[in-house]
This record gives sequence, C-alpha cells and structure tokens, in this order.
Amino acid sequence: MLDAGFLLLVSCILHFYYLSKGQEVTYCDNSMNYTSGSAYQQNLNLTLTSLAANASLTGYYISTVGLGQNPNLVYGLKNCPGFTPKEVCHDCANSVVTKIIQRCPNQKVAFVFNESCLPQYSDLPFFSTADIVIKLVFLSPQNAEDPVLFRSQLGSLLGNISSNAAADTSRLADGRTSYTSSIDIYGMAQCTRNLTGDECLRCL
Ligand SMILES: *[C@@H]1O[C@H](CO)[C@@H](O)[C@H](O)[C@H]1NC(C)=O
Ligand SMILES: *[C@@H]1O[C@H](CO)[C@@H](O)[C@H](O)[C@H]1NC(C)=O
Ligand SMILES: *[C@@H]1O[C@H](CO)[C@@H](O)[C@H](O)[C@H]1NC(C)=O
Ligand SMILES: *[C@@H]1O[C@H](CO)[C@@H](O)[C@H](O)[C@H]1NC(C)=O
Ligand SMILES: *[C@@H]1O[C@H](CO)[C@@H](O)[C@H](O)[C@H]1NC(C)=O
Ligand SMILES: *[C@@H]1O[C@H](CO)[C@@H](O)[C@H](O)[C@H]1NC(C)=O
Repeated sequence: MLDAGFLLLVSCILHFYYLSKGQEVTYCDNSMNYTSGSAYQQNLNLTLTSLAANASLTGYYISTVGLGQNPNLVYGLKNCPGFTPKEVCHDCANSVVTKIIQRCPNQKVAFVFNESCLPQYSDLPFFSTADIVIKLVFLSPQNAEDPVLFRSQLGSLLGNISSNAAADTSRLADGRTSYTSSIDIYGMAQCTRNLTGDECLRCL
C-alpha cells in the first residue's frame, strides 16, 4: 500500500491534530474525574480488562459495565483499523489499555489513537453517534508531483470508498484508482460499526 496520508475521526475534542506517522495520541478529558476506589473506577477496571481480552476476535468490541448503577456506568470501545492482523490488534489492545490508565489516571473520558488500535471509554454512551469534532491527520512527508491530478483522483476515490463504507455493514471499504501510468492511489475508509450508514457517511 502507498504510504498515503489518511484521516480518521474520533471523539469529542476541539482540535485538528497534524501528526507524522508513528505518533500515538492519548486524550484525557480533564473536566470530569473519578475518585480512586470508586464504583466508577471498579467498572472502568472491568471495562479495560474486557476490551483487552475481547477485541482481537473481530477487531471491534464494545462493552457496557455497571448496568443499573447509573451514574457509574462505563462505556468502552475498541476498534482496530481496517485490516490490522488479529495478533497485532490483540497485542496493541493489551499494551495500550495499560498505557491509557497510566496516562489518564482519574479521568472519566479518555482515548488512545494508535495506528493499530483505538481504545476509548466514557461515562456517556457514544457508540451510535458520529462525533466529528476531533480530527487527527497523519501526513506523508512526500508531496504528489502532479497535485491537481492527484487531488482530483484522490477526491473521487475517497468519495467512492466513503459511500461504500457507509453502505457496508462492516463500515469498512477500500479501493484504488490510477494516478500516473505507473502509480496508483490506494484508499481505505472505516467507521466504528455501531454507527448507522447515515451517521458514518456524515462523518466521512
Ligand atoms: C502502538 O502500540 C503498539 C503496541 O503497544 C506499539 O508497539 C507501537 O509503538 C504503538 N505505536 C506508536 C506510534 O506509538
Ligand atoms: C482532573 O484531574 C486532572 C489531573 O489530575 C486535573 O488536571 C484536573 O484539573 C482535574 N479536573 C477537575 C475538574 O477536577
Ligand atoms: C483498578 O485498577 C487499579 C490499577 O490496576 C488499581 O490500583 C485500583 O485499586 C483498581 N480499583 C478498583 C476499585 O478495583
Ligand atoms: C470478554 O472478556 C472477559 C474477561 O474480561 C470474559 O469474561 C468475557 O467472556 C469476554 N467476552 C467475550 C464475548 O469474549
Ligand atoms: C467512483 O465510482 C464511480 C461510479 O461507480 C466510477 O465511475 C468512478 O470511476 C469511481 N472513481 C474512482 C476513483 O474509483
Ligand atoms: C451496536 O450494534 C449492534 C449490532 O447492530 C446492536 O445489536 C447493538 O444494540 C448496538 N449497541 C449500541 C449500544 O448501539
């Protein structure tokens, strides 16, 4: 696959992050904290164990811990992008879930964006609504030699794979298109699976 820049949209903040490949982003929401030893922390511990244990099976797993205990419910999600191999997804989950709790020690809402896995948790249900506020952008350091042609072909490809991803129950699609006689452009688009097709397309 060409090392094309790609764009993924995750949850709930107010910034556009430009990153180079190989960076990992952790977001902790400082506005709401839980206390050590609380029911929320207990439910979060169970959530993280369950995310680490279960996500590799399909690359996607959601968990709700603490039903009946409102306000201490914890919603957790783990998604591995696109075609991440199961073992990579599993290893990433195990290690990132440990990091998230160290980096966001008392925060009720947090996520990690790693190119191999994207665990997140919150005290609010977020599985079914596209959140289009935070944008993380990974840029390739190479520029296209023919930017006008590149942009036009890329635009058409991304439009197509966005529609295809939204229309497929996996919410995942890939594709390629020609650029020069010897170079193709490859693309992939993915939404978390609990978004409806309309929400997925709105986000993409
Ligand atoms: C993503 O997580 C894996 C597993 O912990 C780690 O090996 C890798 O370095 C992380 N990626 C980045 C960019 O930090
Ligand atoms: C939550 O905890 C973080 C880190 O300990 C701290 O910076 C932040 O001010 C706290 N927020 C509130 C609302 O207490
Ligand atoms: C949750 O896990 C952390 C770290 O493993 C531990 O220190 C804490 O006591 C646990 N909290 C509860 C309520 O089980
Ligand atoms: C998820 O992981 C937990 C361990 O934390 C396990 O008890 C449970 O059976 C797993 N669920 C699935 C669907 O694999
Ligand atoms: C996008 O889809 C349209 C209609 O199916 C097709 O004609 C076009 O070639 C596709 N473009 C790319 C770049 O895949
Ligand atoms: C997530 O999607 C599954 C399958 O479509 C559905 O059964 C489940 O109710 C959804 N859960 C949430 C919390 O949206």
